[in-house]
Amino acid sequence: GTQTVHLSINGKRQTLQLEPRVTLLDCLREVVQLTGTKKGCDHGQCGACTVLVNGRRINSCLSFAAMHEGDEITTIEGLGTPQEMHPMQAAFVEHDGYQCGYCTSGQIVSAVGMLKEPWGPADKDVREAMSGNICRCGAYPNIVRAIQMVRS
Ligand code: FES
Repeated sequence: GTQTVHLSINGKRQTLQLEPRVTLLDCLREVVQLTGTKKGCDHGQCGACTVLVNGRRINSCLSFAAMHEGDEITTIEGLGTPQEMHPMQAAFVEHDGYQCGYCTSGQIVSAVGMLKEPWGPADKDVREAMSGNICRCGAYPNIVRAIQMVRS
């Protein structure tokens, strides 16, 4: 059977009827129809599915939605508006922090989460902090520069 789960997604309260084993990622993409969060590996290894839960970044593919009763979820759709990008989105645009774009939602959400963690701005710190987000195109130098622009 299903269970009732209350989530606040990008500031909007939602009451959802979910199978207990639906991942937060599938809940976002298939139930709530927020497809900006991407599914790469579905095994916690690529970071394409990164979202913020109460401000902390997680791989949403590794977490059951029902574990997040009452939590605040922020996805890429919750950052900025079409009229005004979030500073991290603007920085990724300015520094070409992507090529194919598949990992970009996860990169940007992860970078926003990282800003609240005690990382320094040096290249090696940013790379370490972002090591859970894989970019198969290898846009890392530009991703690092984009984050440093916001970080400093
Ligand atoms: Fe979740 Fe790859 S889809 S880490």
